[in-house]
Amino acid sequence: MNLISRYVARNESLKKALSSSSLVKRIAQRFVLTENLEESNLIGKWYDQGFGVILYPIEADAQNYLEALTFWSEKPVAGSVSLRAPFEDLNLVVEEAAKKGVRLEFDMRAAKEVDQTLQLYSEIKRKHSDSVICLQANLYRTATDIEDLHDLSPIVRLVKGAFKSERSYRCREEIDLNYIRLAKMLINRDVKTYLATHDEKIIKELISFSEERGIGRDQFGFQMLHGVRSTLQEELRKDGYEVWKYLAYGEDWVPYCINRLLERKENISFALEAILKE
Ligand code: FDA
Repeated sequence: MNLISRYVARNESLKKALSSSSLVKRIAQRFVLTENLEESNLIGKWYDQGFGVILYPIEADAQNYLEALTFWSEKPVAGSVSLRAPFEDLNLVVEEAAKKGVRLEFDMRAAKEVDQTLQLYSEIKRKHSDSVICLQANLYRTATDIEDLHDLSPIVRLVKGAFKSERSYRCREEIDLNYIRLAKMLINRDVKTYLATHDEKIIKELISFSEERGIGRDQFGFQMLHGVRSTLQEELRKDGYEVWKYLAYGEDWVPYCINRLLERKENISFALEAILKE
């Protein structure tokens, strides 16, 4: 979180004022679900269109994860819940997910937490076989992690990586090259892989790679954030690929949203456009 979103997160009255403004809500709805899960018709619309949906509760605790599992268990389609492990009562959430047949996806955080997250994933994957692990292409270690995970038949969400460390590539070109190298490695080894990137150049290169080798469209899929590259998401879905939308939601949506606005200049221009149209 950057300084501004951290300040807002701690300032309850400012947060309340922002979350009750209809303009702020309108801008926020591009990135985040500002209403209750049950009240939203967005998710129903997406799965009618053939998208998968990954729920990402902004308040990362067992109660919110259990609610998300119940939400999916009452729907006619398969859904995912993204977790930031570890947290209290993780085992309870895993048991419930297995009982309710809801897929769990393990987010990956800072480099110092990678060993622990991989360890947890290894234990949980044995009990709940369709669980997904996120791997980060900016880390030097990820090719070795893929080798080590091999016997577990992992399902991988491959991202460029949002956390810097001493053992990570810094330069954008190096991260992109490593992303392509790791994606090819995963796809070639028949590891079910979700390419979680909005980078059209990389997506095109990997689609060409799979077509040249006759790799089926069910071997890999895509995951993208709600509100980012929506047209591309639609095109990929129409081309027969699995496409999952990653949807953040929860009462504490204001700091999350500020963070998203500040991370990309195109998001700020979108917000300014919305304000000017008022
Ligand atoms: P890149 O940053 O190069 O962006 C490519 C283009 O996409 C940009 O030029 C821009 O146009 C557009 N774009 C990308 N992000 C945007 C945004 N936020 N708003 C507007 N436009 C944007 N990281 C991590 O470390 N651990 C994790 O668990 C996850 N989980 C995760 C799940 C899913 C479904 C996604 C899509 C991403 C993550 N990430 C993540 C984040 C990931 O590591 C990375 O920081 C972002 O996806 C941005 O990288 P791109 O691959 O999109 O490329």
